[in-house]
Amino acid sequence: MGRTDHRCGIRLARRAEARTIAVMSRELIESGLGWSWTTARVRHSIADVDTNVIVAVDGERVVGFALMHYREERAHLLLFAVAADRRRRGIGSSLWAWLERTALVAGISTVHLEVRASNPPARRFYRHLGFVEEETVPGYYRGREAAVRMRCRLGVGAGGSPPLR
Ligand SMILES: CC(C)(COP(=O)(O)OP(=O)(O)OC[C@H]1O[C@@H](n2cnc3c(N)ncnc32)[C@H](O)[C@@H]1OP(=O)(O)O)[C@@H](O)C(=O)NCCC(=O)NCCS
Repeated sequence: MGRTDHRCGIRLARRAEARTIAVMSRELIESGLGWSWTTARVRHSIADVDTNVIVAVDGERVVGFALMHYREERAHLLLFAVAADRRRRGIGSSLWAWLERTALVAGISTVHLEVRASNPPARRFYRHLGFVEEETVPGYYRGREAAVRMRCRLGVGAGGSPPLR
């Protein structure tokens, strides 16, 4: 079980944090693929009522973030990252716990995501949260890189989510 970083809090992202999230996204998630999650796009998502953009903060520093879009009964997890120097301390699990609880309240039963096939650590992390790998989608990323599509049914006892503080 991961250690919990008690210095961190989880909350909705502020408009002023869009650039930080976009830059972290480019460096930690989109590395080698180009930059699709620009500041303007993240800012738009922060303002979108059907999307939650959340951050893990240590004081003023954003040390992790996630972005999830809600539809009728399912949600799509689009971005998820924790700063390299703060990993394996339960921050990712805490971000997921916030999203999972919110999604359940919103009546969401399933969360979907795509992750780079070349990213085994993230795939392990998602499996740890209760996601299952459904299929590989060749060329999903700009026609160059394959994605693995994963799905999590909520409320069926997915492991790994510590209680929210
Ligand atoms: C994937 C990521 C978000 C995990 O965040 P984190 O805060 O380190 O995750 P946690 O500490 O909550 O980890 C919970 C569990 O997930 C699994 N896990 C997490 N990172 C792992 C890794 N690198 N290798 C293997 N298992 C891992 C472990 O079971 C871990 O529990 P443990 O530490 O007790 O063994 C983080 O590594 C990251 O930001 N990676 C780069 C960006 C990325 O790949 N994002 C996802 C695709 S969009």
